[in-house]
Amino acid sequence: MNVLLLGSGGREFTFAWKFKQSPLLTNLFIAPGNGGTEQFGTNININPEDFLEVKNTIIEHNIELVVVGPEAPLVAGIKNQIKADTDLRNVNVLGPDKLAATLEGSKDFAKEFMKKYDIPTAGYETFTQETLESGYLFLEKMKAPYVLKADGLAAGKGVLIINDLEEAKNELKAMLTESKFGTASKSVVIEEFLEGIELSIFTLTDGDNYVILPEAKDYKRIHDGDKGLNTGGMGAVSPVPFAQGEFLAKVRERIIEPTMKGIKNEGYDYSGFVFFGLINVNGEPFVIEYNVRMGDPESEVVLPRVDEDLLALCIDAASGKLQSKSLNLIGQTAVTVMLVSGGYPESYEKGKEIIGLDKIKDGILIHAGTQTKGYTTVSSGGRVLTCTAFGNSLEGAQKKAYQMARLISFEKMFYRKDIGNDLL
Ligand code: AMP
Ligand code: GLY
Repeated sequence: MNVLLLGSGGREFTFAWKFKQSPLLTNLFIAPGNGGTEQFGTNININPEDFLEVKNTIIEHNIELVVVGPEAPLVAGIKNQIKADTDLRNVNVLGPDKLAATLEGSKDFAKEFMKKYDIPTAGYETFTQETLESGYLFLEKMKAPYVLKADGLAAGKGVLIINDLEEAKNELKAMLTESKFGTASKSVVIEEFLEGIELSIFTLTDGDNYVILPEAKDYKRIHDGDKGLNTGGMGAVSPVPFAQGEFLAKVRERIIEPTMKGIKNEGYDYSGFVFFGLINVNGEPFVIEYNVRMGDPESEVVLPRVDEDLLALCIDAASGKLQSKSLNLIGQTAVTVMLVSGGYPESYEKGKEIIGLDKIKDGILIHAGTQTKGYTTVSSGGRVLTCTAFGNSLEGAQKKAYQMARLISFEKMFYRKDIGNDLL
């Protein structure tokens, strides 16, 4: 099968790495891909959000399956466009359609869905410019810290957690009346603050049946000890030690099962991954958010632990033939440590030559923001490379991932030194 994988990060590298191992793969194209994905297929330098470019690529390379990595093309409706195009009648798309992708594209939509299907989540109300005064009153009734969320996609930056009431009111005003997050903050969800440990759980579905993938914990803040600014993710661990037994049973019963039933009941055209952003509050699971795709860097520990032909599962999910079953997993612990450009998540420099790539013998060195320049590989993003290693214990996996990280260098390279420590 000829496959087109849309995206360019560590997540897409990991999909490409897995797909390459499948006997079902004929040719793999990655658009736009990165300096590492060329090991597994052909990079096509197009914008995954430009439907015409995607269409031309599909036709030129006889693509039979499109796997969508990031959320933006899904929220923009790439599946609807492909499905509606008579020239692309035989192309399957792994990903939800535009309406179903609203589960990620609008926090209010997701909260309504959770309310309708009685899925545990933080109490909330949604406000607009017209209801700003009621928003102030709602904040006054709540306890600090105050959680304000831009309704739309804001590149992971649209959530504010504020301790001071006056500041929360000012931010609410800035979001609603001064377009603090552009059109994403035309509506703002204010919700109850939940205190606990976060984890991510994933399913793969064909809209009817589903399989559960391994869970992971992501480390979002830039500095050790979860300090500093939010990033796309600085590392991840799978499995998560507390995600078992009674807690996992609650997650399945109260969250996964009703969500998957809800998706079916709403009649969504949903194939692909459901990402449950969860929080464990004293043993009780709550949904923080849904995403309609795999996580990044969660994919970099979750997919390597799936001891199955991932492409076969993706083909089945995209064509409505997925069988519900337990997946075979690699029992070892996987840890990934993200190497980022100095300054990230604020401004940083690109084009730094990466040294040491040839020294990595163990583990999976995953490219995220890299580019090939002649015989060298240079940085081309904030998150540059991520080092995934396995171990029989979390400590063992950590040790190996950090050994890998120490072999790589580029000017102003930075990484967190404590990925996984909180789970020991
Ligand atoms: P989101 O974009 O919805 O995933 O939110 C970003 C981050 O904000 C989450 O990963 C949490 O760390 C935090 N967060 C979001 N909602 C809440 C909440 N209700 N209570 C506590 N923390 C939250
Ligand atoms: N790591 C979080 C995300 O992919 O949204």
